[in-house]
Amino acid sequence: MRMRNKYRKPTTFRCNAGSRCSTSAVVWSLVGCFFMFQLYTLVRQKDRLGGEIQFRVSNHPQFHELEQVEEENIQIPPPRKRSPRAAKRKPRRPTTLIDEFLDENSQIRHVFFPQKLAIDPMKDTANDSYYFYPGRIWLDTDGNPIQAHGGGILFDEKSRTYYWYGEYKDGPTYHAHKRGVARVDIIGVGCYSSNDLWKWKNEGLVLAAEKANETHDLHKSNVLERPKVIYNDHTGKYVMWMHIDDVNYTKASVGVAISDYPTGPFDYLYSKRPHEFDSRDMTIFKDDDGVAYLIYSSDDNSELHIGPLTEDYLDVTNTVRRILVGQHREAPALFKHEGTYYMITSGCTGWAPNEALGHAAESVMGPWEFMGNPCAGGNKVSRLTTFFAQSTSVLPVPGFTGSFIFMADRWNPADLRDSRYVWLPLIVGGPADRPLDYNFGFPLWSRVSIYWHRKWKLPQGWSGWKRI
Ligand SMILES: *[C@@H]1O[C@H](CO)[C@@H](O)[C@H](O)[C@H]1NC(C)=O
Ligand SMILES: *[C@@H]1O[C@H](CO)[C@@H](O)[C@H](O)[C@H]1NC(C)=O
Ligand SMILES: *[C@@H]1O[C@H](CO)[C@@H](O)[C@H](O)[C@H]1NC(C)=O
Repeated sequence: MRMRNKYRKPTTFRCNAGSRCSTSAVVWSLVGCFFMFQLYTLVRQKDRLGGEIQFRVSNHPQFHELEQVEEENIQIPPPRKRSPRAAKRKPRRPTTLIDEFLDENSQIRHVFFPQKLAIDPMKDTANDSYYFYPGRIWLDTDGNPIQAHGGGILFDEKSRTYYWYGEYKDGPTYHAHKRGVARVDIIGVGCYSSNDLWKWKNEGLVLAAEKANETHDLHKSNVLERPKVIYNDHTGKYVMWMHIDDVNYTKASVGVAISDYPTGPFDYLYSKRPHEFDSRDMTIFKDDDGVAYLIYSSDDNSELHIGPLTEDYLDVTNTVRRILVGQHREAPALFKHEGTYYMITSGCTGWAPNEALGHAAESVMGPWEFMGNPCAGGNKVSRLTTFFAQSTSVLPVPGFTGSFIFMADRWNPADLRDSRYVWLPLIVGGPADRPLDYNFGFPLWSRVSIYWHRKWKLPQGWSGWKRI
């Protein structure tokens, strides 16, 4: 459940001029206030819930099944047999599940990157229909693996169709130089359309790389990451924002492109450093009132910045706030539920997975508060690595308030085109598991939970299914 955050500001004690406050009086007053507050909160909870203190788990019984915590035990294989001489030279350190994940020759590679099994909407009829299998290869309606990494989904009201945009990475992975990170040349932004979020039709490259002009931002030797598209109700244009960089990530800019149609082609307009700050991982968020925001990792990824876009969504305004200062978060994904803003971020460890964190705010411009790790189920290591993936976007499920799809990328740095999608149910409800300091141990926000499931599907009655 959610409580309005009225008691944010710590009360300051002032004494009347002339009178002297003894320290013990202040302490006892504080203690008194503390108990009064506890009592008040309790009574309020009772009022709301008809005398029973409990936290609502979910708005929808259909989602109950998805809120079951599903454990997954992944066995680390026994160490390979090595010759006694080799063992003597270099004693083997104990391998962790993360080591196994990062080792492309791991014996349990298939657990993280299954090769044979794929989600194939053209073949998986009857029993397997509409099931998401996080981590499996996902084929489009032509039978090719979907190429929409670091992506996001736009629901187009006009055509009542979902469009999934992301990095098209179907090229060789290589290192530009000795200390360079694994990369694929820019190919462009892929776009896929769907009515049910499961069967995706390839709409082609909606923004393609520049092959000849070496000084162009989109020249294949550069970097284009995390493209996101929103629709502008005033101008009737589809606007794409993306991270634009050079091979060494020193340009640290955002790029903007525009189209009359969700399926492009998008015209690339320009790139810039927003508010004159460096900008790497980023996303955009369109609020209910039509105001859109750019959120980006800045100051060498040590903090995030957030600021509104201009009315046409083609630029940033002069307003910007620094949030999560010194926290080193990236891969932001924003969403809103019952007037509260939520965000999932990852840590900064390159292609390697790390722990997700949830954040909440009353105002999108902040202050943003920590909510802890939202991941539930799986196993300890997978919870600490966002199920071996990194956030990219959070999509509301229409007709199910409080229910979302958490979209993440399971990067495969050995072959980036083979990176997988990890989609899981994200549910807002129940008490936050990390109470904030200023509210005396009572959670002010609802908990955000991302539930691990080996396979799952959206519940019957989801509005997308009615059209099938
Ligand atoms: C679907 O499931 C039923 C019952 O579990 C099984 O008998 C049937 O063979 C399955 N069909 C397919 C196409 O897998
Ligand atoms: C190459 O790209 C740059 C930057 O976008 C542009 O200014 C220039 O006109 C382009 N050159 C050609 C030959 O298209
Ligand atoms: C990237 O860094 C490498 C090694 O430091 C350097 O050789 C190369 O010229 C740089 N490339 C660009 C485009 O900055």
